[in-house]
Amino acid sequence: LSKENQSILSAYEWLTKLYHHLLRYTKDGREGYNYFKNRGLDDETIEVFQLGFAPNAKDFTRDFLDKKGFHQQLLVKAGLLSQQDDNSVTDRFKGRVIFPIRNHLGKTIGFGGRAIIDQDPKYLNSSESELFQKGKILYNFDLAKKHIRKKSEVILFEGYMDVIAAYQADVKNVIATLGTSLTENQAKLLKRYVDTVVLCYDADNAGVEATYKASMILRKVGCHVKVANLRDDMDPDTFIKEHGAEAFNNEVIKASNTFMSFYMRYLKKDYNLSLEGDRINYIENILKQLAMIESPIEREYYLKELSNEYDISLETLTDEISTHREKMG
Ligand code: CTP
Ligand code: MN
Ligand code: MN
Ligand code: MN
Ligand code: MN
Repeated sequence: LSKENQSILSAYEWLTKLYHHLLRYTKDGREGYNYFKNRGLDDETIEVFQLGFAPNAKDFTRDFLDKKGFHQQLLVKAGLLSQQDDNSVTDRFKGRVIFPIRNHLGKTIGFGGRAIIDQDPKYLNSSESELFQKGKILYNFDLAKKHIRKKSEVILFEGYMDVIAAYQADVKNVIATLGTSLTENQAKLLKRYVDTVVLCYDADNAGVEATYKASMILRKVGCHVKVANLRDDMDPDTFIKEHGAEAFNNEVIKASNTFMSFYMRYLKKDYNLSLEGDRINYIENILKQLAMIESPIEREYYLKELSNEYDISLETLTDEISTHREKMG
């Protein structure tokens, strides 16, 4: 690690402690504390995730770190201060609650800041740098690792609040991408630890599209994909809050769909299945994905379903799949 990056890590360490301390024990942080309480988090959870609050003053962070001997330009580079057009700097996260983002070693390498009033953008992350690359980080991976191993399964969410809500509800094999779509880099990292990934993105349109994209990437690197059964336009955080941990476990996670069942439904949006030509293209598309499934039982299960629904003989479908599988080698 370069001297500069070491120094940036040290600045993040100081600020993580400071922001957390302010939130827990001071009047300056009361707004942040109340915000998390209102969202149902208890003190232990706030502690585990070192949640904090950055005071709503434009020089607070700079002055604090200045006294510690950090250079202003370094802090701009670290994504902690924002440079204005007139070259003055301001605290990037001022007035926001802070989610420290840790790397796999548990060191804070960036912050996510959420607005606590109606303000755009709702979420603001540290800017990209050598140390902080959104496409490489999996939020909470350091704490989740041992639970992922134990359960041989990881649950992947969209956001920090989903991870934190699940963790508090004692579902601990949970991680999140930072609002960006999953990258191949992240998928490969996951594959080193676990075979099965349960995708549990928000149950809105964006979430469904992201589920499709992530599942393709995960399958490409060889992961077994399941899709959580989240309903009613909810996200995991709101579901847990409304229905509790037990319902989340039983009705959302344990009731996950197979990738194929998700995909067969998802793909219908691209075709008009009352047209013969579309129907055929749809089936061929499904067969291509089905060919990638290793379990012969699972393959046959869906082949039968297709055969029944579209009145094509099982033999024809099986032949077609064999051709695909031969091509795959
Ligand atoms: N996100 C982001 N920038 C945005 C919106 C979202 O970086 N403008 C990221 C954040 O990491 C956030 C995740 O995407 O945690 C999920 O986004 P979204 O579903 O919109 O937010 P929620 O986590 O549901 O936000 P909240 O419950 O706090 O309203
Ligand atoms: Mn503490
Ligand atoms: Mn969302
Ligand atoms: Mn959400
Ligand atoms: Mn949410």
